[in-house]
Parts: sequence; structure tokens; C-alpha cells
Amino acid sequence: MAVMVGTVGALSAFYHDSLDINDPHQREISAHRLIAKMPTIAAMAYKYSIGQPFVYPRNDLSFAENFLNMMFAVPAEPYLINPVLARAMDRILILHADHEQNASTSTVRTAGSSAANPFACVASGIASLWGPAHGGANEAVLHMLMEIGDKSKIPEFIANVKDPNSKVRLMGFGHRVYKNYDPRAKVMKQTCDEVLAELGIKNDPLLDIAMELEKIALNDEYFVKRKLYPNVDFYSGIILKAMGIPLSMFTVLFAVARTVGWVSQWTEMISEPSQKISRPRQLYLGSDVRQFVPVDQRK
Ligand SMILES: CC(C)(COP(=O)(O)OP(=O)(O)OC[C@H]1O[C@@H](n2cnc3c(N)ncnc32)[C@H](O)[C@@H]1OP(=O)(O)O)[C@@H](O)C(=O)NCCC(=O)NCCS
Repeated sequence: MAVMVGTVGALSAFYHDSLDINDPHQREISAHRLIAKMPTIAAMAYKYSIGQPFVYPRNDLSFAENFLNMMFAVPAEPYLINPVLARAMDRILILHADHEQNASTSTVRTAGSSAANPFACVASGIASLWGPAHGGANEAVLHMLMEIGDKSKIPEFIANVKDPNSKVRLMGFGHRVYKNYDPRAKVMKQTCDEVLAELGIKNDPLLDIAMELEKIALNDEYFVKRKLYPNVDFYSGIILKAMGIPLSMFTVLFAVARTVGWVSQWTEMISEPSQKISRPRQLYLGSDVRQFVPVDQRK
């Protein structure tokens, strides 16, 4: 994410020919550049981090196939793209493309409202997404599974989750908006089943724990009564892990997907003639009068 924030902002130094935000054609070119370059930058950041050579984009591949190829191909042998995994990646990218005024999208709009260039605006969105309260939910699912560590520890963990005095939550369950079922989770569950079957994963301890938690949550009175269903992050975390995407790339992948939403929302905002600079109001609620105490008399 550190590489993404810096590199995407720096694109504005390379593409002076598409920085005039008042020209719809230049806006479109910037939008295409951002959406096209995000997977390349993401995959190159990953390759660099593990000391492998960069793999350049290929125009004959789809967006998802191209990303998988740039992530996993090595010079020593051909990389055969598995269509089930490419389809799963495609679905993950589509399902994460946009989601109303979440923190990062609002950040992109706020930055863009001052007429900043789109590369800088998307970099600000990446910074906002970086925080664990926003982009880190599917990573949190994996951390929870690792913390539980073994199927035998599940009852103790669930008891902790149900304890009203404990702050432990089942990560990847529940949603602030979707109270009946997260419609994205339905697609992700099906994809998850497809990916695990395709890869023939049978004895992965973390995936075993995940499947057991899913079973418990769908049947246990506590979760059923509160309508706490597995959400999109629960399944996407499992899928990405099974596909061999490292934890450090989960939020990066989210940024790749969400760029479509950021760019669309930015374009919509700039195209609106009545658009003004964002200026949230701040209300002072502190004390009215405070006595000044000279520095040498302070305790
Ligand atoms: C997403 C989330 C913040 C939504 O919270 P919310 O709509 O405000 O729900 P509330 O905090 O009002 O919770 C309602 C009840 O369900 C319980 N609850 C909610 N999410 C829970 C979870 N993941 N595990 C256990 N209990 C949970 C609460 O403790 C509360 O119980 P109570 O009525 O006995 O006090 C919450 O479900 C959560 O923290 N989920 C885990 C994190 C996660 O997966 N985030 C990604 C979302 S895409």
C-alpha cells in the first residue's frame, strides 16, 4: 500500500497530457490510465517485494487474467491461467468496484473538489483505504483464523464472541447496511466453493476452521437471531488465501478493484457544473472562556 500511494500520485508527473480536468477527453484518458495501470503497479510492487523480475502486461489477456499472470508468472516456465481462478478474480474485482460513499470514495471526492488532478485524488483514496477499519476486513478474517489456530479451539472462541463482556467479534460476519444477507456474499460463497474444489484443497487448517465457523454461524441461535451472516470479506479472504495471494496484497487488490468506483465518482463530480469545493462545517463545542495562565505560573 505504501508503494501504491506513492506511485499512483507520481503518475501525475508522467502524464501531463491528461491533467486538464476541464477537458472531458483528458478526463477519460486519465480514467483509462488509472484503471489500466493499477494492476500493473500492484503486481510489480509484489514482484519487487519477493525479489522476482517484473512481468509486463499482455494485451491478449482479460483484466483478471492479466493480473494473475503479472502476479504469478516467472521467466523459467509458462504460466497457465486457470479459468476458474480467473473467473473468481474477475468476480472479486467486480464486487469491490464501488460501494457508495465509503471513506475512501468520499476522500477521493473531497480531494477532487479542489480541482486536484485525478492521480493525486486516487492516491488519497488509497491512503484512506489503507486503514484497517476500511480496507482491512478480509485480512482481519485471516488473522482471526490464524489466532484460533485449530478446530478444537473454535468452541472456546465462539463462547468468547457471545460473551457480552468481551469485545471479540466474529470477523467477516454481519454488515452495517445489509441486515438480511449481503448479496455479494452469495456470489462469493459460490465462487469460494468453486475455487476450493478446483484447487482440491482438502487439508488446509485455516480453511477447515473457516468452514466450521460458517456452519456454526448459520445454525447457532446467537448469530441467527442477530442476522449475522458471513459477509463478502469472509469469503473473499478465503478465496484469496486459497489462490496464493499473500495477506499483504489483500488491501492492494481492493484498491485495484475500487479504482473503477473512485474514478467514476470523480468523473461524475467534475462533470457537474454546479460542483463546489468540499468544505465540511466544523462546530466548536468546547469551553467558552478560558483563563490565561502565564507559562511561569503553570503547574
Ligand atoms: C460490520 C459491523 C461493524 C456491523 O455492525 P452493526 O450493524 O453496527 O451491528 P451492531 O454492532 O449493532 O451489532 C448488533 C448485535 O450483533 C452483535 N454482532 C454484530 N456483529 C457481530 C460479529 N461480527 N460477531 C459477533 N457479534 C456481532 C453485536 O454484539 C450486537 O449484539 P447485542 O444486540 O447482543 O448487543 C459488525 O457486524 C462487525 O463488527 N462485523 C465484523 C467485522 C467485519 O466483518 N467487517 C466487514 C464488514 S463488510
